Amino acid sequence: MIRFSEYMSEWLYSDDGYYATYKAIGKEGDFYTSVSTSKFFGGSVANHIISLVDEGFLNKDAVICEIGAHHGYFLADIIEFIFTLRPKLLESLKFVIIERFDTLQEQQREYFKNSFGDAINLTHYKSLNELRCKNAFFIANEIFDAFPCELYYKGKTASIDAHKIEFDIEDASIDAKAKKYNKDRGEIAIGYEEFALEMAASCDKFEFMSFDYGEMMARPDFSIRVYAKHKTIPLFDQEIKRDELFKNSDITYDVCFEHVKDAYAEAGVEFIELKAQMVSLVDMGILNLLEILKDNADEKIYEQELQKAKMLILPNFLGERFKMIRFRKI
Ligand SMILES: C[S@@+](CC[C@H](N)C(=O)[O-])C[C@H]1O[C@@H](n2cnc3c(N)ncnc32)[C@H](O)[C@@H]1O
Repeated sequence: MIRFSEYMSEWLYSDDGYYATYKAIGKEGDFYTSVSTSKFFGGSVANHIISLVDEGFLNKDAVICEIGAHHGYFLADIIEFIFTLRPKLLESLKFVIIERFDTLQEQQREYFKNSFGDAINLTHYKSLNELRCKNAFFIANEIFDAFPCELYYKGKTASIDAHKIEFDIEDASIDAKAKKYNKDRGEIAIGYEEFALEMAASCDKFEFMSFDYGEMMARPDFSIRVYAKHKTIPLFDQEIKRDELFKNSDITYDVCFEHVKDAYAEAGVEFIELKAQMVSLVDMGILNLLEILKDNADEKIYEQELQKAKMLILPNFLGERFKMIRFRKI
């Protein structure tokens, strides 16, 4: 018998776990994120990074660090747009990926080599604990929904035996968290506090921007689900075959941003804002970037890119359901 959080850790992060093995993302792959939808996602963040340099928050030799990069597409798109908009900056910015799996580090190095040759200096660390710097911009897409969690139901925390879920553990700390976030059932994420402390200790002055699916206040229900073959299966579905899905599919849940915010507050990092992804991308200049493309590319390419970017900024697609949360340590 193990706790649900240990089961989820094994599912995603053991040597043969779901994230440890390199998989295609996108139409042919298992999951589809904003990163794989349009380059203008990274482009908008690049535009924002340039504005942070211009206003003096970021130094020209700041660290630009992606956490949980999988393929490395997001950081690569950011670099490509910095190259287009402010190429000189690429000579001084330092690029870092935090990636715990050697196989993924290898794939990311390969992708950067194919995309940029030797022009970009990319450093990998397995954890934020290994990074020490003065000034940084941290970026992440869909990582808080990939932290292991406990499942909670009316005062009891779940255990797992042979893929069967029972609510039979008394845990005062999970109980306290559930009460704090007004849940009588649902997921309680494990590890946000430690992660926020590690980030705060890694850098003197930084901004952290992260995109995830969820709400400020947790919804009073279970959202935990598995993605398999482009289908979403609730973990408590009657028909679910957890033994077959275990380690072979993505498992995730809605993020309670209040919990993320509290973890960063405890680590002494200031909460700046939480807003819909589509609003944040417009604020960071996605429409201006599309205008620049319109003026410089042929109509067919512009139309193709516009259709993809629309997925990020139109209501009912990724843009409305996802949120951007932003913090600063000064
Ligand atoms: C849903 S995937 C998203 C991958 C990629 N960011 C994208 O948008 O396509 C979640 C990623 O977060 C990583 N991750 C989760 N917790 C992490 C942590 N504490 N530190 C670093 N990476 C983490 C996982 O290894 C996985 O690669």
